[in-house]
Amino acid sequence: MITLKSNREIDAMDKSGALLASIHVALRDFVKAGVSTHDIDKFVQNKIEAAGGSAPQIGYEGYKYATCTSVNDEICHGFPSKKVILKNGDLIKVDFCVDLDGALSDSCWSYIVGQGSDEVKRLYDVTKKALYVGIAQATVGNRIGDIGHAIQTYVEGEGFSVVREFIGHGIGPTIHEAPSVPHYGEAGQGVRLRKGMVITVEPMVNTGTWKAKVDSNGWTGRTEDGGLSCQFEHTFAITDEGPRILTLQPGEPKSLADFNY
Ligand code: MF3
Ligand code: CO
Repeated sequence: MITLKSNREIDAMDKSGALLASIHVALRDFVKAGVSTHDIDKFVQNKIEAAGGSAPQIGYEGYKYATCTSVNDEICHGFPSKKVILKNGDLIKVDFCVDLDGALSDSCWSYIVGQGSDEVKRLYDVTKKALYVGIAQATVGNRIGDIGHAIQTYVEGEGFSVVREFIGHGIGPTIHEAPSVPHYGEAGQGVRLRKGMVITVEPMVNTGTWKAKVDSNGWTGRTEDGGLSCQFEHTFAITDEGPRILTLQPGEPKSLADFNY
């Protein structure tokens, strides 16, 4: 069942999202060579709790950490670890949810550690733009398939591929709700978008094959061919005025119109 949110509920999710976004801004300086993914996880958890929120990924279907920290060929759901120490050139995806007064938000952001290769930088730019290409389709009356179709067309046109196994989702009152939001597919297909839906778009874009495999820990997705994977995710509401991004970071594009690459 798809729940439609009231303006008051969306405002509460916007406050949760603003806290989440402020932590991603803080990570821009915190993520650097020599820091472990455990350090990143604790940094995020402390910031959430210091602001009076909680980290709803802890305990979610047996998951143990506040964040997913996925490095290089890891697509998603990487476990934070003291043994994973970032080095120059790494590409890390930090994905987490915030619960503030019962209102949820969810956003993943990628970080290049130090100086990245030209390939990493291009993957980063294309993946971020793919997020906004998808969000631009999220208008009242469009369908879920319009989002995935636009993302897939853009990404494949840039010579990269879109992960199929992991997708976006409705959010609130739990982390994962209907509808499913694939980042590939056919225009004009699927659920019609309505005012009051709150969903995520979170394209995972690979340099090589789109195919994923899951580690023996049962969680961590990684590229089948060892290629790099990048991801950006926003939580947003469908409104009569267009998509309202609830996890917007200061200084980041508000919409596709703000991109000039
Ligand atoms: N933030 C993740 C998402 O985008 C949630 C992962 S589920 C967890 O869907 F169990 F790892 F938390
Ligand atoms: Co999500």
